[in-house]
Amino acid sequence: MTAQLIDGNALSRQLRADVAQRVQALRNRGLTPGLAVILVGDNPASQVYVRNKVKACEDTGMHSVLETWPATLSEAELLARVQAMNNDPTIHGILVQLPLPAHIDAQKVIEAISPAKDVDGFHVASAGALMTGLPGFWPCTPHGCMKMLEHIGYELRGKHAVVIGRSNIVGKPMALMLLQANATVTVCHSGTKDLAAFTRQADVVVAAVGKRNVLTADMVKPGAVVIDVGMNRNEAGKLCGDVDFDGVKDVAGWITPVPGGVGPMTITMLMVNTLDSAERQAG
Ligand code: GUN
Repeated sequence: MTAQLIDGNALSRQLRADVAQRVQALRNRGLTPGLAVILVGDNPASQVYVRNKVKACEDTGMHSVLETWPATLSEAELLARVQAMNNDPTIHGILVQLPLPAHIDAQKVIEAISPAKDVDGFHVASAGALMTGLPGFWPCTPHGCMKMLEHIGYELRGKHAVVIGRSNIVGKPMALMLLQANATVTVCHSGTKDLAAFTRQADVVVAAVGKRNVLTADMVKPGAVVIDVGMNRNEAGKLCGDVDFDGVKDVAGWITPVPGGVGPMTITMLMVNTLDSAERQAG
């Protein structure tokens, strides 16, 4: 192994300790940051995610509300729940767990969240703010990746960053954040011809596809930083990312593991966004 590990668990612990201190300072002024998490249906992965989010609130001293609804909840009913949270002064962040059942228009629900409480950063107002460099909530997963790069002291200016994946949740916002940090950014996706030709030129690769072994050792420039956003399972049911970790770790300069890399950072940045929202309200 030549690569140094970027430990998302350790960095999360550090950042959450800082969050807990800031939460305590706010509580001393009479304001407890609050996060509302709404889950519709019984997707097992989503159930684990929302539990982890609520637990992270408890661990950092924040208030949280978890609403779980059956998959039969109507779109109108869900919109009414979002509206109730928009109007609830004890709630500073609202998160509607995705995916939603097919009969609900997810984008419509996201747009119903007040941009002031959009701690997921999925609202068009948040996306527009990121695009134009204005203040707003950044989506938690790419924001966590940026924190990891910051943590290792990596200077992005002038570097070539290749993002694999173009989702609204990770790929696109990731590319914008890297651009804002003055990297030269290439976005690759399922329509890209000869992916390896791009990744071999990259100083930083962010893999966010949702498919195993998208990035193998022969596709990586020696010394590159490799960030693995993937969350997949292999034949044995073991959690693995998009990167062939065992091969790439011998070529890369830095690499994030799965599990214990980007995953915990996503929840940490949700805590940071919720706290930022409450601090904004406190003035
Ligand atoms: N489903 C998978 N990841 C996420 C996330 O970051 N936020 C929400 N709301 N749903 C998700």
